Amino acid sequence: MCGIVGYIGSRDCTEVLLNGLTKLEYRGYDSAGIAVFQNGKISVAKSKGRLKNLEEKMEQENSRPFGHVGIGHTRWATHGEPSDVNSHPHSGGRVTIVHNGIIENYKELKDYLISQGVTFDSDTDTEIVAKLLDYRYNGSPIQTISATVRDLEGSYALGIIFADHPDQVYAVRCESPLIVGVGENESFIASDVPAIIEYTRDYYLLEHEEIAVLSGDGVQIFDSFGTPIQKELKTADWDVEAIGKGGYAHFMLKEIHEQPTAIRNTISPRIQDGLPNLEECGITPEVLRRFRHIQVVACGTAMHAGTVGKYVIEKLAKIPVTVDIASEFRYRDPLVGEGDLVIIISQSGETADSLAAMRLAKSLGAKTLAIVNAMGSSIAREADMLIYTHAGPEIAVASTKAYMVQIAVMYLFSFELAFALGQIDEAECRRLIRLLQQTPDAIQSILEHKEKTQYIAASLINADSLLYIGRGLDYALSMEGSLKLKEISYIHSESYAAGELKHGTISLITDNMPVIAVATQKALMEKTISNIKEVKARGAKVIMICRSSDDIDAEAVDLMFGLPDFEDILMPMIAVVPLQLIAYYTSVLKGNDVDKPRNLAKSVTVE
Ligand code: M6R
Repeated sequence: MCGIVGYIGSRDCTEVLLNGLTKLEYRGYDSAGIAVFQNGKISVAKSKGRLKNLEEKMEQENSRPFGHVGIGHTRWATHGEPSDVNSHPHSGGRVTIVHNGIIENYKELKDYLISQGVTFDSDTDTEIVAKLLDYRYNGSPIQTISATVRDLEGSYALGIIFADHPDQVYAVRCESPLIVGVGENESFIASDVPAIIEYTRDYYLLEHEEIAVLSGDGVQIFDSFGTPIQKELKTADWDVEAIGKGGYAHFMLKEIHEQPTAIRNTISPRIQDGLPNLEECGITPEVLRRFRHIQVVACGTAMHAGTVGKYVIEKLAKIPVTVDIASEFRYRDPLVGEGDLVIIISQSGETADSLAAMRLAKSLGAKTLAIVNAMGSSIAREADMLIYTHAGPEIAVASTKAYMVQIAVMYLFSFELAFALGQIDEAECRRLIRLLQQTPDAIQSILEHKEKTQYIAASLINADSLLYIGRGLDYALSMEGSLKLKEISYIHSESYAAGELKHGTISLITDNMPVIAVATQKALMEKTISNIKEVKARGAKVIMICRSSDDIDAEAVDLMFGLPDFEDILMPMIAVVPLQLIAYYTSVLKGNDVDKPRNLAKSVTVE
């Protein structure tokens, strides 16, 4: 999604903006631009493509602005194709803005402005906001912003500069995230902490329709009516190192290797005397006993983590769990209400569909529990109960360590729920917790012997399409393996419940459609092996992910990745690691941009 950075201070503004935008690259974008006050005038530079295209363009045209106040943007196209003209900043004349989000009533506003004689250069909804601000501008930036945003429907975070206020940067938000960084004699606006952490750790989190004014005197914040307000200054506890690659070729590889630590950081504070304790998150045995049904809502990888949770909760706690994609849930008149617990899982805590689904669930009377990685994000703030995952910043678009800690939390939650409901006794609960605590070591052992995954990846790069199969928890895991591969390798793949193949999909099997079979559930092993034989008999090359100790007929498979022996129910945490690595190496071997796959954004803050 789009990234915003703004700066006022004594540094070279262009450098701060470009540096900050580089730190937001992980969000995904297809064009970039900056606007900087130079000798009292706004100088704009923008370009389609990566930030390096913008830098090259400024160098070639000798147009790199120099000044100390400005705004910058990376755009992920929604209205209008990626192009120089559609790139931000957009100007309305006296007002220049950058925007993250979608203005839903843009057509109506555009028609009105056209009727007033206003003309447009781009296809963006953002230019309409710039022109509307300019049309309304009465010399008072705060009054103008406050009046204009009342007419906007949709989501937005805006960075704004006014030509006649060269010593100020303005910002306002609704739904789309925006923070205001406070340094010594300098201030910043940004879509996310990594953009500013090099300069300051102190920041304000802008709330709905709040307006920030950054000037030489520091930062002032106003409510939507223009009344000054006091806000709590937050401190980002992120490690600057954590947002660098730390010697790894890609963020994704680094994040895969961070998984053992991320699990420990996430589960340790929630285990006391060998038992799960989620009290600090608002979850007690009494609270847990109130629910008769659990609904999990999330998108993409987070939804896959919820699917693992479904199998585990139903098996241990014997409560029905349904899992829904947030964009479906929010529009299907869902049957949730009092007595239901709705769990929203999100790494970013800003995914538009997940946020809307959570609000809907609350309005229907359900209790909501958010499992979120990004501190202070919208979903985290609005949920009734909250469990933070402590994965640290996840930069690669393909989610790995966030998935790992999401499922770790689902296990903790399931153990506590099953114990609270009397479905498992204390001894069993303690045993499961001990096993969960051992998962980081098992994962580490895979990371230390990962070469085989490169070999498997090399065997996949020429395939047009792949199938991931499994049963039960292995099926839940196959979904994640398949998504990981397709999003970064660009090879089509599907996950399928192994027993369902015969009902249609097996007709696709050829010798150019490798099948990755995940088989970690002992009770289902024989059944999965029968399915493997069926696809093998039809020419498929089969790659099997199972325990090293499993006695597999060498004839039945072409390649195998052996996992350490572990309890069945916890195997998804172990078995996902080779699936992540296979996807990673396939992408590397194909020469793709692993951390920033085409067309994708890290945080999907628009519908
Ligand atoms: O920030 P969220 O966890 O809410 O994001 C949800 C999905 O957009 C995300 O998991 C996406 O599927 C990942 N890119 C997959 O690797």
